[in-house]
Amino acid sequence: MNGTDSGSENASPRGEYGFVVVSNRLPVDRVIAADGSSSWARSPGGLVTALEPVMRQNEGAWIGWGGQPDLEFEPFDNEGIRVVPVPLSAPDIENYYEGFSNDTLWPLYHDVIAPPSFHREWWESYVEVNQRFAQATAAAAAEGATVWEQDYQLQLVPKMLRELRPDLTIGFFNHIPFPPYGIYSQLPWRAQIIEGLLGADVIGFQRIADAGNFQRAVRRLKGYSTKGTYVEVPLLDNSPGVRVFGPIKRQGSFRTVVARAFPISIDAKSFEDLAREPSVQARAHQIRQELGNPRTLMLGVDRLDYTKGIGHRLKAYGEMLADGLISPEDVTLVQVANPSRERVQAYMALRDEIELTVGRINGDFGTIAHTPISYHHHGYPREEMAALYVAADIMLVTALRDGMNLVAKEYVACRFDEDGVLVLSEFAGASDELKRALLINPHDIDGMKDAILQAISMPKRDRQARMRSLRKRVLENDVARWSTDFLRVLGTYSHHGAAGHTLHEERKTT
Ligand code: G6P
Repeated sequence: MNGTDSGSENASPRGEYGFVVVSNRLPVDRVIAADGSSSWARSPGGLVTALEPVMRQNEGAWIGWGGQPDLEFEPFDNEGIRVVPVPLSAPDIENYYEGFSNDTLWPLYHDVIAPPSFHREWWESYVEVNQRFAQATAAAAAEGATVWEQDYQLQLVPKMLRELRPDLTIGFFNHIPFPPYGIYSQLPWRAQIIEGLLGADVIGFQRIADAGNFQRAVRRLKGYSTKGTYVEVPLLDNSPGVRVFGPIKRQGSFRTVVARAFPISIDAKSFEDLAREPSVQARAHQIRQELGNPRTLMLGVDRLDYTKGIGHRLKAYGEMLADGLISPEDVTLVQVANPSRERVQAYMALRDEIELTVGRINGDFGTIAHTPISYHHHGYPREEMAALYVAADIMLVTALRDGMNLVAKEYVACRFDEDGVLVLSEFAGASDELKRALLINPHDIDGMKDAILQAISMPKRDRQARMRSLRKRVLENDVARWSTDFLRVLGTYSHHGAAGHTLHEERKTT
């Protein structure tokens, strides 16, 4: 418990897990075998890799949705992690997941690249599903446990959970951007979301600018003071719609919440190791051969999402072919477009638009021997991705807005040969760190074409100097470092330390 504060009288029953991660999706995928039997396979995300050691040390549990409608199953152990399902019905998926999460919040938080839809029934479903996640978490967490919630689908959970379990230490990490106030303020439920997030002790963002946007929204909507990375949440606030969260660390008449940037990363070493595998090297060689050994192989790897700027990239490439700046024999583009959120209208429209453009470019500029764009509307296993990264001379990351963009970091991690050029949008969070990439504004098509030409003709020494610097950054700041940094700051809030003392420590380190 936190100092003198005891749990609320109607507190929910305690569970047994000392460290609980909560995310919309579980880190396991259901695999159906040919004989119809089903099993679970670990999905190869960096997050689960980074958290696994912490999970093993602390009786860890992971709470989330199994990815299919009405999938009910008992909690089970998967490679040292307790997996606890939160089932979603078909209407939950339609309203909470496809609707509010991915057709309201996603476009709103990504600079309204697509228009967000505001529907009250979606909001009601979001509240209801967030409540269910909070209840499942409250039931799993041991007394005084640490809980780490992930991403925009669950922004109300911190407050809901604090009300149920004031003994918990609660962290939240937002994997996507937090928008500027002028955009955020469109949201009819803008104050509720801020209140929901402020239920956490530590709120992490990808970029310093995201944390700044959040703090501004807090000041504008709630009138709370912010000092450096701290938000002061009053413990007695009678203004309408404001509730005082559970009795916790008191500092005068407010509790402090940290809101700051913790840029996420990847398991860089494992990508490098994979890239070094002889089978991956051989496959990279084979990929180039099968593409007709182009002088320059360019690669794009994205979820098929309107935030990724795939259309802008294709426009630049198409114009370069049309202008005769490059020829399809010389410069080939491989575009991997992972299917995503296929029942959301904006994603359906995007697929049509991208595939029309790919077809046009291939039709206009292709020859029997050379197809300018090798387009793939499916995901690939990690080995194949590593081979593509090794094979590609130029990696194109042209997002119009992106929380971080881990593909950029994966490419860098795989290039142990210190070759390859990363063309990176300044609107991806990764550009804050990867400053030796060729940074572009994807809206500026001429600028993008110039950067691609520069990448094509860049001398090897320059490529190496840039890649060396990028690699240093990515290998030093991997996902283990990210989770350690976050959990260290969150640890200053745990019941083990006196809040005032540990907050002072944190101040010194940030
Ligand atoms: C982004 C989000 C994640 C999400 C992922 C895939 O990276 O930040 O929270 O899981 O996209 O999207 P999906 O809707 O398939 O979970």
